[in-house]
Amino acid sequence: MEKIINGKTNGIRDSVLEEMKGLYDLTQPSGVFLSAELCESLAMFTERIGREISVYISRSGVIKDVSIGDATTVSMPDMRIVRNIDRLCGVRCIHTHPNGSGYLSDVDLGTLNSMRLDSMVAVGVREGKPTSVYASFVGEMENEERIPLIYGPMRHDRLPQRALLDAILVADNRLKAPTYAVTQSEPERAILVGIENNDGYDTLEELKQLAETAGVKVVAIERQRRRPVDNATYVGSGKADELRLLGSATEADLYIFDDELSAIQIRNLEDVFGAPVIDRTMLILDIFATRATSREGKLQVELAQLKYRLPRLLGAGVVLSRQGASGVGMRGPGEKKLEIDRRRIHRRIYELEQELAEVEKQRGLRRGARKKNAVPIVALVGYTNAGKSTLLNALSGSDVLAEDKLFATLDPVVRRITLPGGSECLLSDTVGFINKLPHDLVQAFHSTLEEVREADLILHVIDSACPYYDVQMRVVEQVLASLGAADLPLIEVYNKIDLADASPRKRENAVSISAVNGTGLDELRRAVESVLNARQVRVEVVVPYDKFDAIQTIRSIGTILSEAYEEDGAHIAAMLESDKLFQLQKALGITVDKPKADWEESK
Ligand code: GTP
Repeated sequence: MEKIINGKTNGIRDSVLEEMKGLYDLTQPSGVFLSAELCESLAMFTERIGREISVYISRSGVIKDVSIGDATTVSMPDMRIVRNIDRLCGVRCIHTHPNGSGYLSDVDLGTLNSMRLDSMVAVGVREGKPTSVYASFVGEMENEERIPLIYGPMRHDRLPQRALLDAILVADNRLKAPTYAVTQSEPERAILVGIENNDGYDTLEELKQLAETAGVKVVAIERQRRRPVDNATYVGSGKADELRLLGSATEADLYIFDDELSAIQIRNLEDVFGAPVIDRTMLILDIFATRATSREGKLQVELAQLKYRLPRLLGAGVVLSRQGASGVGMRGPGEKKLEIDRRRIHRRIYELEQELAEVEKQRGLRRGARKKNAVPIVALVGYTNAGKSTLLNALSGSDVLAEDKLFATLDPVVRRITLPGGSECLLSDTVGFINKLPHDLVQAFHSTLEEVREADLILHVIDSACPYYDVQMRVVEQVLASLGAADLPLIEVYNKIDLADASPRKRENAVSISAVNGTGLDELRRAVESVLNARQVRVEVVVPYDKFDAIQTIRSIGTILSEAYEEDGAHIAAMLESDKLFQLQKALGITVDKPKADWEESK
């Protein structure tokens, strides 16, 4: 094995580094956990260089790595320690504390757990001599935390060698114990990273909700002041290092960034953290992937995921080839794998697009049928978690999944409801909108979202109890505008007014409701009916020559689009306000083309 001194070696004389390579020769004899000789050598070098030193020892006593770090940083070896949830990694870390005490810090103990080290040991150093030694081992679970076992303070020349070696085996068994099965299903622990926002809207708080929706436990939230984005690591290398330490201390196994990251940034950050890094879009896509139920929804999510991943494959591919390399120049096979992945993804994207085109064609046909039926469509839109599904249920008496999680609804749901005057409309629930809705997603869901544009009326459901409800309203308005639906008739529905901190409605034509206890629902139904009644509908009628007065009626209540005189009478196409339709029916003595809504769909 090549003897290399890793870590922060800058500024240290080559001759000293050369001498330090001798540490590799201090193999620990069988039955010895940490020899006095190794402790003394470490203390001596620590004094000479004024920095912390770490050595990593395998179970067979071989020194696998020697690294230099500063006093607050435990430097991890460049070798990749295999982390396994139900096994210790088979390597113990002995490091020095140049400040005199061997007392283990939270970062030390966090690293013990997150790296599943056999043991994390600190040797205090003063004036070139070891002072106290502390050794820690992975311990039992207590209240969802693994509490480390700590031995110490101990004298370096009187260490209970056997007992310490046994403690490793006990810790190993503890991980293998069946009770560990419970902890295996523990949620992933994530650190959230984002930029502080000046406009008062906390997108990180929302990211936290998203993470929880995805089943992730958030162990820390890091807010950064706004500053130029670092191309290599997004946050800058100093901050990345801090985040790594935080990851060790909190035992995080995932980092989630609030903004989109490039392939290079993801790769570099993963290298620093030794843990996976995802961004907001990946998180949302992940939630969507688990929530899509219809065939179309699933296809759309998969397509969005692949399209998002493709340009980022570089990162994953390089990491792959590097892992495969383990010191040997094995770039080739790595690259090859990357190429295969790329081609496979391209092919899958093509297949998905074909399949989606087919589904969309079907949807177009269904939509055509709906138009012909002339049943007005009312679309529920709103920020995610505003209460759209709850309102749909309350109005239709149906049972759509409503959860206090983001994006409980992904696939559009349509229900038929009867309004107070007896007329009917179709109520459709769409995907919830969200700040920074990823571009790929808007595109993927375009055909679903497009349904909104076909609506006769939009109900904008607002979570009036949310402190940021006005920011959320703006986001929804922007998405509506981008869909070309900004000019449709719209009613603002201030929901959740049963809650104490609900804000009062702002506009005259808005309605305040509680979808949960039913307050205001009658008023809402009436408002919907009156807007729909005032809506223009297109009618085509044949006016027989003996009922010619009806043409006069049409002129007085609407606009004639075309008229053609044939043998059986005047063929007229006109736009009328829908609640004036009955006047025409009266004048003609027949039912005008307004067939019963005879279909209902749930997809
Ligand atoms: P997405 O599917 O994420 O777009 O959510 P949504 O807008 O469909 O919201 P959903 O109906 O799932 O409701 C979200 C949460 O708000 C649920 O926990 C509901 O019980 C709650 N909620 C909805 N309406 C009201 C209300 O009027 N009052 C109160 N107190 N809670 C409500």
